[in-house]
Amino acid sequence: MLKIKYLFISPFFVQVILREIGQCAVRRAELGDLIPVMEINLKTLPEHYSDYFYESLLAELPEAFIVGEIQGKLVGYIMCKTEYGFSNFKKLGFVKKGHVVSVAVLDEHRRKGIGRVLVEEAINGVKSKKCDELYLEVRCSNSDAVRLYEKMGFINKQRLKSYYRDGEDAYLMAIELNP
Ligand code: ACO
Ligand code: ZN
Repeated sequence: MLKIKYLFISPFFVQVILREIGQCAVRRAELGDLIPVMEINLKTLPEHYSDYFYESLLAELPEAFIVGEIQGKLVGYIMCKTEYGFSNFKKLGFVKKGHVVSVAVLDEHRRKGIGRVLVEEAINGVKSKKCDELYLEVRCSNSDAVRLYEKMGFINKQRLKSYYRDGEDAYLMAIELNP
């Protein structure tokens, strides 16, 4: 039987919970989440974005802008966009690709599986938009993130020299969604 969980916020507004992991409800982001998402980003990553950029990602690809919430407080997010470009897997292939712009979980809620669920739900979201692949860049020194992506089936495709402002290299990692 199909069981759908809802979170009732007001009599006029319900949120659909995609997944639950422990106490953490995982659902699509909405406009009111953007400030807490920006706060998590500021605390956890050196790459920051304008308010407008967050809004445009939510407008463009809400299916893959996902948040994790514990007792009404956001603890993690993932946000993505779609692009057309050369395949990271097929020679000479031009494909629709999902791109993970940013994913983070607050320090005190890490290693509970929330990061994995956020990436899994973003994969479902970009698949629903008919993307063939999903890719991301990650700092070469960010072993926690690299290990998580590898465990999920992402393949390290390329080292991007001095990708970050501070000069650090990135790994370009990608996964085929319909191999
Ligand atoms: N008990 C113990 N360990 C667990 C449990 C559990 N119940 N559940 C999962 N784990 C382990 C996983 O096996 C994994 O272990 P490993 O490191 O030994 O492989 C580890 O916890 C991480 O998995 P998750 O819990 O699913 O991920 P987490 O919620 O900790 O989030 C993330 C991972 C997002 C990378 C986090 O470390 C983070 O926010 N880092 C800072 C921001 C960041 O670097 N983001 C990625 C940048 S790249 C980009 O954005 C494209
Ligand atoms: Zn990127």
